[in-house]
Order: sequence, then C-alpha cells, then structure tokens
Amino acid sequence: MDSFCGVQISTVLWTYPVMSNADRVVLALGGAGTVGSGVVKALLDKGFRVAVISRDNSRLEKLKGFVSPSTRDNLTTLVGNVGSEEGAEAAKQDLVKTVGKVTDVVSSLGFSWWQGGPPHTQTLKELHWVIETLLFSTFVSWKVFFPLVRDDPNCTYTFITGGAGEKLLMPGTGFLTVGAASTLAFCQVLREEYPEVPCKLNQVKINTGVAPPERMAPGYLNHLDLGEAVATLVERKCTTHTVFPVNCPADLKTVVLEGNL
Ligand SMILES: NC(=O)c1ccc[n+]([C@@H]2O[C@H](COP(=O)([O-])OP(=O)(O)OC[C@H]3O[C@@H](n4cnc5c(N)ncnc54)[C@H](OP(=O)(O)O)[C@@H]3O)[C@@H](O)[C@H]2O)c1
Repeated sequence: MDSFCGVQISTVLWTYPVMSNADRVVLALGGAGTVGSGVVKALLDKGFRVAVISRDNSRLEKLKGFVSPSTRDNLTTLVGNVGSEEGAEAAKQDLVKTVGKVTDVVSSLGFSWWQGGPPHTQTLKELHWVIETLLFSTFVSWKVFFPLVRDDPNCTYTFITGGAGEKLLMPGTGFLTVGAASTLAFCQVLREEYPEVPCKLNQVKINTGVAPPERMAPGYLNHLDLGEAVATLVERKCTTHTVFPVNCPADLKTVVLEGNL
C-alpha cells in the first residue's frame, strides 16, 4: 500500500477530503515585504489563493505588479495593521468575509536589517520599536490568526525567522540580535506549549541575507528561491514542530525540500 508522509493513502483519503492548491487560501503575514513577496509569488505560481494584509496600500499595489500576471486574480490584498490587537481583529473580519476559510499562514513580519549602533548609543524608544516590529507583531497576529487553522491537520502555520538571534552579526547590530532572539524564543515556546496541535507548525530559520535578484550579495538567498522552498513546504504539509535552518542557497534544497536536517 502506498503511503504519503508516513500515512497510508487510503487512510488519508478516507479521513480528510483531498484539497488541491486551488482550494487552499494562504494568509501571508508580511507578504508585502522582501521575504514575503517572494513567498507570495511562489505560492500563486503553485496555484494557491493568497491573501496579504499591509498597512501601506502602495506596497500592496507594488506586490500586485510583481506577481505573475496570470495569477493576479488569486491574490487578495487588504489594507490593515496586524501588529495591533484591534487592527489584527479587524483585518481578520475583513479577511474571512473576503476569502472565506483560511487554510495556511506564513508569517514573515519584521524588517530586513538594523545596524543602529552599539547598545550604549541607543534609546529605550528604539528598543521598543525593534521588539514591536519583530516580536509584538508576530505574537499579536499569531494570537488572532492561529485559531483559524489550529485544529485542522490539513492546515499549516509557518514562521520565517532570522538566525541573527543567535549571535551578533557585526558591530552595531545588537538590537537586531535582541529582536530576532525574541522571535526565535517565541517560536520555541509555541512548539513546546502546543506539542499536540493538529495544524502543522513549522519554522524556517534563515542564517543569511535575503534579497531580490537586483540586490543580491555573495551568500545571500534570492527571495524567489526562498519563496519557492517555503511554498513547497506549505504544499507538502508533512512535517510539524520542525525548525529548518537555512545557512546558504544550497540548504533550500537539502534542508527544506529534502528534509536533511
Ligand atoms: N531580509 C533578510 O535579509 C532576512 C534574513 C533573515 C531572516 N529574515 C526574516 O524575515 C523577516 C522579514 O524580513 P523582510 O526582509 O521581508 O522585511 P521587510 O521587507 O521590512 O518586510 C517586513 C514586513 O513586516 C511587516 N511589519 C513590520 N512591522 C510590523 C508591525 N509593527 N505591524 C504589522 N506588520 C509589520 C511589514 O508590513 P507592512 O507591509 O504593513 O509595512 C512588512 O510587510 C525578518 O523579520 C526576519 O525574521 C529576513
């Protein structure tokens, strides 16, 4: 008997209706950003329907121009702020009214880079901003949107995080380390607090820079290649409670797609 993700196919078919990508709606939190836009494009290219919420309508318009024209009708964009409790709740109401059931969430909230200087030169206000951007938005949106997918084994919730949380990348990037570390810790807490949750809960931890093709530097990940790997992970929905560390472009294939952790 054939098996898929270690489960006999007859069991899978009998227990859960088979969903094609076209039946799945992915909410891409941070989908208008550098990392998120690569993920959104790849998901659309695989036939998923995708929803993106941004505080900035011009970023959403740019995203619409960036995705493959033939998939644009499958992209829903909403203006909203998922970083505040009221904003995220309002965005959820809008989202569900517009797209119906959400089956998957990919969260890549935060910022691309911070190098404001060593801690003694910084203000508490700046640290608040860093934590708000990397941790609070990730927490608030998880709290509001996770219930949409939590109890369904056909659903996924994937966090994209940065390895900057494990060490100081270079002088002057200390608050980036503090903020990224708080997100890494939050993801670990979720894995340990909810070990049995049916939704597939995964994390892709990127230990290098990510950029669009025109801003690539040596060792960086092309956001389109990263997007494709993340979209494949979402499509497969095999693993759960797993961290996929990505150190270099080759890891997208070996670590994320072939699962050689
Ligand atoms: N870029 C890299 O080199 C890199 C490397 C390793 C890991 N990462 C990971 O990827 C994440 C995203 O990076 P990125 O380069 O895509 O950053 P980005 O281009 O700045 O995009 C970040 C997204 O987060 C959203 N966001 C930020 N603060 C928010 C807040 N307070 N409330 C609601 N939404 C908020 C923004 O939403 P709006 O559209 O509303 O502005 C934006 O869409 C990082 O946090 C990190 O964990 C990135």
